[in-house]
Amino acid sequence: MKLAPSLLACDFTRLGEELRSIQGADWAHVDVMDGQFVPNISFGLPILAAARRASGLYMDVHLMIDSPERYLRDFAEAGADGLTVHVEATRHIHRAVQMIRELGKHAGVTLNPGTPLEAVRPVLADVDTVLVMSVNPGFGGQKFLPQSLERVRTLRRWLDDLGSAATLQVDGGVSAANARALADAGATCLVAGSAVFGADGGAAGLERLSASLSG
Ligand code: DX5
Ligand code: ZN
Repeated sequence: MKLAPSLLACDFTRLGEELRSIQGADWAHVDVMDGQFVPNISFGLPILAAARRASGLYMDVHLMIDSPERYLRDFAEAGADGLTVHVEATRHIHRAVQMIRELGKHAGVTLNPGTPLEAVRPVLADVDTVLVMSVNPGFGGQKFLPQSLERVRTLRRWLDDLGSAATLQVDGGVSAANARALADAGATCLVAGSAVFGADGGAAGLERLSASLSG
């Protein structure tokens, strides 16, 4: 199981330290919001570039922006290792995935809780990551939507049927309370913001999350 702390929940005044506190993580999850696709604005290219300079962690960039094609090259150049786009945010999801691949980055596709899973099925064979949103994107600290478990199970089956080794990632309201159930449902990567950075710091949060998976 890969763990991907979401920087959205970290203390931006101490970005470098926060990144060091999660050195033991597999990926750093970077939530980019444009105030259009989602009703919130987070941060963009300069913060990704700063995180890249401060850390050797794999930068997993979740683009919650309309027409993400416009910015794929910029995010790739700013230091993304993986770029995940929303199927609802583009008219051409397949083209967007191809563009990410052509930039030499790992391509991810994701969808909102209200979008039928069928929407991502045509590109499943072409992606490195499939992300199940388990909250409505836009804000950290929301409650996990329990119907997400069944969505993870279905995608697990579809990926297995294809013989795909794509990462099956879950994002939103993930904590030590549901990590094990998500693993059992077939998830292979968990994003967590408030559960990692929320209480007593990144290292302790990360430790709690991984303990919940091994205990
Ligand atoms: C939600 C973001 C998430 C968010 C998760 O729009 O995509 O990555 O940071 O935060 P928590 O883990 O607090 O739900
Ligand atoms: Zn995210």
